Formats: sequence, C-alpha cells, structure tokens
Amino acid sequence: MDYDLLCKQVQEMIAADSWYVPALSNLSALLMDTLPDLNWVGFYLLQDDRLVVGPFQGKPACVHIPVGKGVCGTAIAEDRAINVPDVHQFPGHIACDGASNSEIVLPIHGNGRAIAVMDIDSPVFHRFSASDEEGLKRIAEFIGRLVRWE
Ligand code: SME
Repeated sequence: MDYDLLCKQVQEMIAADSWYVPALSNLSALLMDTLPDLNWVGFYLLQDDRLVVGPFQGKPACVHIPVGKGVCGTAIAEDRAINVPDVHQFPGHIACDGASNSEIVLPIHGNGRAIAVMDIDSPVFHRFSASDEEGLKRIAEFIGRLVRWE
C-alpha cells in the first residue's frame, strides 16, 4: 500500500472543505475504496463519556460506545492505537458487523486532545501489518490536525 500517496489524497480531500462532516464522509469513502479487504471504515466522535458514530462506510453500526468499552472505547480511554488481529480474542469486543475478523482503531487528536477514533474492520484475520499501522497513524495525525472539528 502506498501510504505516501494516500496521505497526499487525504490532505487534498480535507483542503476541499475541512469541516468534519464533509471531510470525514469523503475520507471514509476514500479509505474504503483504497484499502483492500475491508468491510467497515469510519469515525466515532467523543461526546462527554461516550463515543457516537460519525461518518462511515459499511453496515449500520453501534451508535454509542462508552469510553473504556470495546476496541474503540479502549483506544480513546488509553489514547493509543489498537491493532486486533483476531477480534474474537479481544475481551469486550463489540461486534457491529458479524463479518469482521480483525480491526484497527487509532485515536485522533484535535484541539489539543483525543477527540475521535478512526475504526477500520476487515473480514481477514491479521489484516493490518506494522506498516499499515504506521501509515494509518500518519493519516490519523493529518486528520486530527487539518480537520475543523466544530
Ligand atoms: N468493534 C468496535 C465497535 C465498532 S464497529 O466495529 C463498527 C469495538 O469493539 O469498539
């Protein structure tokens, strides 16, 4: 995967309109279209003590996730990327789409704090390599810095 090119496309997309609604909507479509073997890509936004589903591509998903619950709630509570090679082995994993077998969640920092997560699911076990994780961290960093969050 050419993450240099993908990072450039992410920046161009945000430059078209940096407000989070159009930016995250088109970014979820870009990631779904570009990265092979995915069944869900999207964003959960922090609202008080829970995450609320934001723009995404895939099947309808859980609307609210408490901070500290599931992969997404753990990633934002601990402010770290979580790469799960087999979701069935992750204690407390929240199954939104039964097709998901692996998942990666990355925190997004905006306005100086963890403000959202980017969640990517795959039907393939062990889908996300160390280089995917590194590339997706760069993408999450661009999104946090360039998107207008209100
Ligand atoms: N599996 C996630 C829930 C969100 S869906 O994958 C879209 C979790 O455990 O937090």
